[in-house]
Amino acid sequence: MEKRTHRPKEPALEALEPVAQEATALLAAAKTEIRRAYIGESLTIELLLAALLARGHVLLEGVPGIAKTTLVKTFASILGCDFSRVQFTPDLLPADITGAMIPNLSTNEFVLRRGPLFSNIILVDEINRAPAKTQSALLESMQEAQVTIEGVTEELPPPFMVLATQNPVEQEGVYILPEAQLDRFLFKIRMGYPSDESERAFLKLYNHAIPNLQGIIGRATLLRLCDGADTVYIDDELIDYIVRLSKATRHHSAVRLGASPRASLWLLKAAKAYGLLSGRTFVTPDDIRTVAPFVLEHRIILTPEAELDGVQVQDILNESVQNTVFTSQ
Ligand SMILES: Nc1ncnc2c1ncn2[C@@H]1O[C@H](COP(=O)(O)OP(=O)(O)OP(=O)(O)O)[C@@H](O)[C@H]1O
Ligand SMILES: [Mg+2]
Repeated sequence: MEKRTHRPKEPALEALEPVAQEATALLAAAKTEIRRAYIGESLTIELLLAALLARGHVLLEGVPGIAKTTLVKTFASILGCDFSRVQFTPDLLPADITGAMIPNLSTNEFVLRRGPLFSNIILVDEINRAPAKTQSALLESMQEAQVTIEGVTEELPPPFMVLATQNPVEQEGVYILPEAQLDRFLFKIRMGYPSDESERAFLKLYNHAIPNLQGIIGRATLLRLCDGADTVYIDDELIDYIVRLSKATRHHSAVRLGASPRASLWLLKAAKAYGLLSGRTFVTPDDIRTVAPFVLEHRIILTPEAELDGVQVQDILNESVQNTVFTSQ
């Protein structure tokens, strides 16, 4: 039953075909270009692009020195968009990222000095090193794509994507992001140590100077692809599959807080973007299975007993994905 393609015969989807081709070509080009400066899993690059097309934000987690910053900088530099970077520190104030009204001495008026949030792609390095007030200023803008500075509200121009990095919470001197704030991130991607082969490859790469990376896509094309991802077809049976998958996480005995309806919505959007990047105008069950762990992991809270027993959220997710069988009628 898994072979069914879920492709309806609709003119709107035929019109989407060239956009899907463009999306796969972009993915291939992005992989080639990113590999000139970062060696890692293909899936990570696929997820970053899927998040961009789904208009979502990404949290990258990993121990120091695992190339989180390198990956984000590389990713941003191949997109022909504005890019800014903020290093979160314990003394960072909300106005340092949003901007502030400052007096213009020649006109005696206050003018808006826009902060680094006014960019298309924002790298927030070590998000868990800044205190809650600054984190929430960032996360509010992520939610609403706008910033309010002393009563003046400014829209953040699309595409607007925050790529935040954090060290695992076991490290000292960090402010843990509350669940509600974690929920603002479409994906949380854990970056692990590279394989020996990857580590050798990146050492060889950095044995020579890294060439400047090329922007491979412009803002207008990017926005067209985002609109394309919205139009990707998803069969009712697959919507039902998402519902059952989220429900399975809520009813698990080791889970205190399962996937929210917002998580289901993000799963839908992410699967559509992933489908488009795979060159398709429709979602398959595998699109959902691929993105689900990255959408759901940070939104699930275990019971205290399960935590004490050392249960891992990933195991519960794997179990839920395995137990929620997709059968087409
Ligand atoms: N897989 C990799 N591909 C390319 N470069 C790598 C890789 N792993 C490590 N490096 C190199 O290691 C160095 C450290 O990487 P980077 O600063 O991006 O790590 P980080 O995860 O952001 O660390 P921190 O948590 O301390 O900020 C960089 O010079 C980077 O080029
Ligand atoms: Mg870093």
